[in-house]
Amino acid sequence: MRKAHIAIFSIALGFAGLLHAQAPSGAAVAPAVKGPQASGLVSGQPAAAAASPGTAGIQGQNIFEVKPEASEDPSYLKQSNGERARVQPGNNAPMWRQVGAGATGYSSLPKSEAPEAGNLIQPFVQYPGSRLTNAGEAWRQVRNNWLIPYGGALLLIVMLALAFAYFAKGPIKTKLPATGRKIERFTPFERAAHWANAIAFVVLGVSGVVMAFGKFFLLPIMGGTLFGWLTYALKNLHNFAGPLFAVSLVVVFFTFLKDNWPEKGDLQWILKGGGMLGDGHAPPSNRFNPGSKIIFWGGVFFLGIIIIASGFVMDKIVPGLIYERGTMQIAHMVHALTSVFMLAMFLAHAYLGSVGMEGAYDGMRHGYVDEAWAQEHHEYWYDDIKAGRIPAHRSEAAAQGQPVQA
Ligand code: HEM
Repeated sequence: MRKAHIAIFSIALGFAGLLHAQAPSGAAVAPAVKGPQASGLVSGQPAAAAASPGTAGIQGQNIFEVKPEASEDPSYLKQSNGERARVQPGNNAPMWRQVGAGATGYSSLPKSEAPEAGNLIQPFVQYPGSRLTNAGEAWRQVRNNWLIPYGGALLLIVMLALAFAYFAKGPIKTKLPATGRKIERFTPFERAAHWANAIAFVVLGVSGVVMAFGKFFLLPIMGGTLFGWLTYALKNLHNFAGPLFAVSLVVVFFTFLKDNWPEKGDLQWILKGGGMLGDGHAPPSNRFNPGSKIIFWGGVFFLGIIIIASGFVMDKIVPGLIYERGTMQIAHMVHALTSVFMLAMFLAHAYLGSVGMEGAYDGMRHGYVDEAWAQEHHEYWYDDIKAGRIPAHRSEAAAQGQPVQA
């Protein structure tokens, strides 16, 4: 029995000895082992089943010959792997310490195919919000100590605020009586672009939230097996919905661009907080009010570009980029941060575009709004329509070959 144990231990040490023979090279790495220990000799004595001459490292070690008391040497912690092997054959701690600190060994694989082949543990780095530690751990700290708790808190706060707005204040109603006369607010093309984008966004939002926060609210309910499969499926869905979102976002951007430039009355609208400050009366606005414009430029444009770019990096579809672990870590942190802000923004947008404001959803669902709605919420736009500067039915006007302006 004891023999068997010794044999197993010998095999383990033999493996460690092999690693010792492959200790990484480079400036940060201990000098190569020279002399007797390279062939398994310890202080002139054979190190148990000594390696054959010319073979570095040890091939076996008798457990009774390992000297734990060697650690009492004051220079024990400064030993190189070779020095350590001399006093404790098979103890490769110095080499592993260097591996842990990010030392890169030699690999003959081309960098384009295997950029990190010689490197097991990434070098030390300090990401914003992390300690100075190896990059994998630094990334983990940023994710678990910042992105998840604060990102989750922001989303919960936004949801609570919207729930409060709905239950305490109720949806924004149109005070003017409905006229029954309709104005075309969104053409079929605009609606198709918007909903394609919104559906992709919802898929991304739900799958992203489950990937990031699901372990807190789903795992305890459904258990590891089901949660694992669900997250796996959603992760793949996320990877495919991303490019669809990107394409539809570009279409949405160019479709709505011309009505999202700053216009007269915008500043006034902002100063009155969109009607929330002052007499509570919604200030006049153009086709889109500054609130929508902020979402357009901040959410669709600015956050959109960053989210799509970082997502494409994680999807590994950016040609010519070398995908190292550090590339993925940075892309992930940027993606998670911007996604949380975008989700917060579009939760508010989706609230106002559905249950939060009477009549808004109809415009995007069917294309038409009542004149009273247009007058009350977008008075300058309504005035332009009444004055004939913008056709009330743009699709029909376009079909008749008239110039179409929103
Ligand atoms: C998922 C739920 C969503 C709902 C219920 C929703 C609803 C609406 C509604 C009702 C409007 C018309 C508002 C108005 O008449 O002024 C609108 C406009 C718009 N939505 Fe959404 N939306 C959603 C998601 C999104 C997403 C994910 C994006 C883009 C990332 C987006 C971008 C836009 C844009 C660009 C406009 C035109 C307003 C502007 O350009 O300022 N929407 N949405």
